[in-house]
Amino acid sequence: ARDINLAVVAGDGIGTEVVEQGLLVLDAALAGSGTTVSTTDFDFGARRWHATGETLTDTDLDAIRTHDAILLGAIGDPSVPSGVLERGLLLKLRFALDHYVNLRPSKLFAGVTGPLANPGEIDFVVVREGTEGPYVGNGGAIRVGTPHEVANEVSVNTAFGVERVVRDAFARAAARPRKKLTLVHKHNVLVHAGHLWRRTVEAVNAEFPDVTVDYLHVDAATIFLVTNPSRFDVIVTDNLFGDILTDLAAAITGGIGLAASANINPDRTAPSMFEPVHGSAPDIAGQGKADPTATILSVALLLDHLGHVDAAARVEAAVAADLAERGGRVRSTAEVGKDLAARVAG
Ligand code: IPM
Ligand code: MN
Repeated sequence: ARDINLAVVAGDGIGTEVVEQGLLVLDAALAGSGTTVSTTDFDFGARRWHATGETLTDTDLDAIRTHDAILLGAIGDPSVPSGVLERGLLLKLRFALDHYVNLRPSKLFAGVTGPLANPGEIDFVVVREGTEGPYVGNGGAIRVGTPHEVANEVSVNTAFGVERVVRDAFARAAARPRKKLTLVHKHNVLVHAGHLWRRTVEAVNAEFPDVTVDYLHVDAATIFLVTNPSRFDVIVTDNLFGDILTDLAAAITGGIGLAASANINPDRTAPSMFEPVHGSAPDIAGQGKADPTATILSVALLLDHLGHVDAAARVEAAVAADLAERGGRVRSTAEVGKDLAARVAG
């Protein structure tokens, strides 16, 4: 029997609660397939940082690297200064493991009421670049705290980094029925990076002639995401624009309780990481109130990435059926997990 060697980073707040349900559904999806799951728990997060001052050591990274994939719950806690865990743990994992494709599907499932009066059909994916942009920490500040402070965050965009994520986005667009790719940037202002992205999309388009390309400035993209989200199929964009757009994308499709994501290393030189888009939600942590659906949809992305395409489809179908019948019913985190595991098992 094949075995999936899974690293589990439950993390902070509701992370542990939602990951538990994700693992339950993962097991249910693989039951009878001959594939088993063995998990290794990593205690990264606020508790470890308070106890040891460590976020993610080289030894941790070496240990993580031996796994087939990572399932992550949520990182962040109000008791830790802002940026310490985000940069020192979450972004460090994405950078060190070369997760250059941050894949965030947005689908309005039947039965889900979002904030839009006439949403139409919503089914697009955002390919957010995951290793560059303003996220790399290329910046600095001088005269901090004085009226003459200068604080710089420099967005890094390399030809290598842009090209590889753009090529991945084209391949995804080519595999979808509508074959449409929208580049989102702001090349009327950010002329250096913007034109690199634009030229790269034009060049790679030659390899994917059946993909239709269009372009939107990021500000205009936020308008269309609200007024006409059906126009989107695949969006490719940089790390920061992608962060912002995917929260908006989550909002129009039923909220971050449903938004899944995959941090993919397409070259498979390191394990990819699957996590809900939402954070640790300390305000509801420990109450069994968090919706594990986003994590469970992330488990579907994990299964798909590891080649268990049928199991992935069954998890997504279970979520779709659950959402269709959900109505206003309030269930605990564990109840949702149990119901979805039952549906997956059939
Ligand atoms: C996300 C989060 C992270 C990001 C933060 C916590 C570093 O907002 O996964 O979208 O900005 O990428
Ligand atoms: Mn975000």
